[in-house]
Amino acid sequence: MSQTVRGVIARAKGEPVAVEEVEVPDPGPGEVVVGVQACGVCHTDLHYREGGINDEFPFLLGHEAAGIVEEVGPGVDDLAPGDFVVLNWRAVCGTCRACRRGRPWYCFNTHNASQPMRLADGTALSPALGIGAFADKTLVHAGQCTTVDPAASPAAVGLLGCGVMAGLGAAINTGGVTRGDSVAVIGCGGVGNAAIAGARLAGAATIIAVDVDAKKLRWAEGLGATHTVDASTADVVEAIQGHTGGFGADVVIDAVGRPETWTQAFYARDLAGTVVLVGVPTPQMTVRLPLLDVFGRGGALKSSWYGDCLPERDFPMLVDLYQQGRLDLDAFVSETIGLDGVEDAFAKMHRGEVLRSVVMF
Ligand SMILES: NC(=O)c1ccc[n+]([C@@H]2O[C@H](COP(=O)([O-])OP(=O)(O)OC[C@H]3O[C@@H](n4cnc5c(N)ncnc54)[C@H](O)[C@@H]3O)[C@@H](O)[C@H]2O)c1
Ligand SMILES: [Zn+2]
Ligand SMILES: [Zn+2]
Repeated sequence: MSQTVRGVIARAKGEPVAVEEVEVPDPGPGEVVVGVQACGVCHTDLHYREGGINDEFPFLLGHEAAGIVEEVGPGVDDLAPGDFVVLNWRAVCGTCRACRRGRPWYCFNTHNASQPMRLADGTALSPALGIGAFADKTLVHAGQCTTVDPAASPAAVGLLGCGVMAGLGAAINTGGVTRGDSVAVIGCGGVGNAAIAGARLAGAATIIAVDVDAKKLRWAEGLGATHTVDASTADVVEAIQGHTGGFGADVVIDAVGRPETWTQAFYARDLAGTVVLVGVPTPQMTVRLPLLDVFGRGGALKSSWYGDCLPERDFPMLVDLYQQGRLDLDAFVSETIGLDGVEDAFAKMHRGEVLRSVVMF
């Protein structure tokens, strides 16, 4: 048995996405069908459409979502129909070598649904990040569902499912930002601006926002940036040094993910500082550096997978902070759109008009 819903499909590299019929199977052991209420448009969806992640077309896009559990499969006893959940794309296994050593946020064997969703002609779909939530309903692993307070806005808290969590966690978890730190964030889209909000939550004293787009920098000021740098005109490394007593920042977060922005991050940190790469590079990108600079500048060069988050620990806590008015998730919802608006939303993202367009069902 299966049910037919609408979903946003990327059929081939670079081609516009389209709404098509999707067959969602009944949940098998450990699986859950979720009725999607809201799903944000993330740059990673566009990376998929452009073939930048892998070639496993067709993709069912969408992965930062909140919704209501509709059906649970055999063996799922901690979720029930009616539960309000935020979906996550790193459901930890508990038994891999990372989990067994007490570092589950690195889990090397995260869970997804085992049955595929399909097109009407039977073609199996690759759901973006194992979720596929630009669809009325989606099939996920039970571990991909975290229950949160149902009073919260689905459009806002759904963003914790990817970009906003990645940015917040890049600052708080991966970067270890703490009271009094100086932090610079290169790229102030949804992810970078969330890193700025995270740096403020953690008590950073200096927060430098860097972008090529003046509108993004204004939004960054609203979320906690104390200084802004227009990368289309300024020398980014010198500007960050200028705002940090000539030294560079304690933590520099690259939320773009290109060789030039990562290299800026590398040189814009203080001695023994930390670089966090949260933007996702493409397979063609390479970096060349004098090895002596890597040694001589010390510190840590880290990547942030999903903000090193643990959904069960972090989502409910961040929803609480949101509801207390201490974390402005609504500021990330630039517009709400319909399921047929995703291609337009990619264009708006390209033109820098939005932090997040959120598909509402
Ligand atoms: N690591 C993770 O777990 C994770 C999770 C979600 C998204 N991402 C990645 O994070 C990145 C950002 O995602 P987003 O949704 O915020 O995208 P976005 O397109 O909304 O934001 C990118 C921002 O970078 C700015 N920018 C582009 N080139 C720049 C440059 N040379 N210097 C300074 N700023 C520049 C743009 O103006 C824009 O504001 C993407 O690569 C995305 O795939 C990573
Ligand atoms: Zn694991
Ligand atoms: Zn994403």
